[in-house]
Amino acid sequence: MQNDEIPPLSGWSEAELDQAFAAVALEVEDSAAALRSPEQFRLQWLGRKQGRLKAISDSWLKSAPADARKAIGQRFNTLKAEIERRLELADSASPHDALDAEAVDITLPGTQRKLGAEHPLIRTWNEIVSVFQRMGYSVGAGPEVETDYYNFESLNFPPGHPARDTQDTLVIAGQERKPLRDRLLMRTHTSPVQIRTMEQQPPPVRIVIPGKVHRNDAADATHYPIFHQVEGLCVDANITFGDLKGTLDFAMKAFFGSSVRTRFFPSFFPFTEPSADVQISCPFCGGSGCRKCKQSGWIELLGCGMVDPAVFGLVQGKQPGYDPKKVSGFAFGMGIDRIAMMKYGIGDIGLLYSGDLRFLEQFV
Ligand code: PHE
Repeated sequence: MQNDEIPPLSGWSEAELDQAFAAVALEVEDSAAALRSPEQFRLQWLGRKQGRLKAISDSWLKSAPADARKAIGQRFNTLKAEIERRLELADSASPHDALDAEAVDITLPGTQRKLGAEHPLIRTWNEIVSVFQRMGYSVGAGPEVETDYYNFESLNFPPGHPARDTQDTLVIAGQERKPLRDRLLMRTHTSPVQIRTMEQQPPPVRIVIPGKVHRNDAADATHYPIFHQVEGLCVDANITFGDLKGTLDFAMKAFFGSSVRTRFFPSFFPFTEPSADVQISCPFCGGSGCRKCKQSGWIELLGCGMVDPAVFGLVQGKQPGYDPKKVSGFAFGMGIDRIAMMKYGIGDIGLLYSGDLRFLEQFV
């Protein structure tokens, strides 16, 4: 029927009109199924000069008596809407047009992503750790929320010991009914991981433990309630203070440069005996005195000492290899923040925690 002339209407009754329009609707359906492109379908049905819809209108509407026009017009509009609906469907399904919609203009500039960078604190953390890894040390970790036992008692700070006052502690509230040793606090140093490590493994031990620590310190240019330490522990038969000095001297030279010298001063920590504070010759002025070393030529960097036999004694119950008559060891602890600040010339510790892009962008 498609290419045929439009047959004249056989009459204008509702039934005759319905029949005639139903035949055209079938024709629309057939041609939509056979259709090669939406454009072809559109021309065939809606073409202004040769479209079949125009022919139908010419043949059926114009010749109709006035009182049949309304009924024909309504059916005509329904038919037209149906043709348009099919055309819209065909349009959206056309692969060509779908590609057009997704097309990318490759001449536009791309989305710029800013390159991130390692935070100066983390960079320093990794550099310190890798110096010790190269000496055969393993790397450990421990909890930031610690018990009083691991943070203090096992490190030979008994309850009420004045050395506890040197580490202003943030304790978790509401634990008054627990025995003191089980109460939780934010660890004030990484040293509790010394004990945790020894309880887990027999000697020999060579380990560094980097991590976050907390103290109830008011923030100023050199203090912040959060900072970071790297703990070191070495336990074996016949470990001497000479090993401690050699190890730290080597590590400081590896980290700051081979011309850096170290010196050790007597100090006190409950868990090491003897204990020492370590200074390095100022890596910036070579020891002649500058602003960074406050004109002294030396910078104090870490605490250390030989593991106190009393500490081994406490571990021995859980790991029998730590007989203080058979093994000895040394431990050290250094502040990562301080070293990062010195290395990168950062005047205020708070900048490390500010998240301020103007600060961070300097390290990209
Ligand atoms: N934990 C000590 C502090 O935070 C440092 C230290 C570690 C000293 C290991 C001796 C041995 O002050």
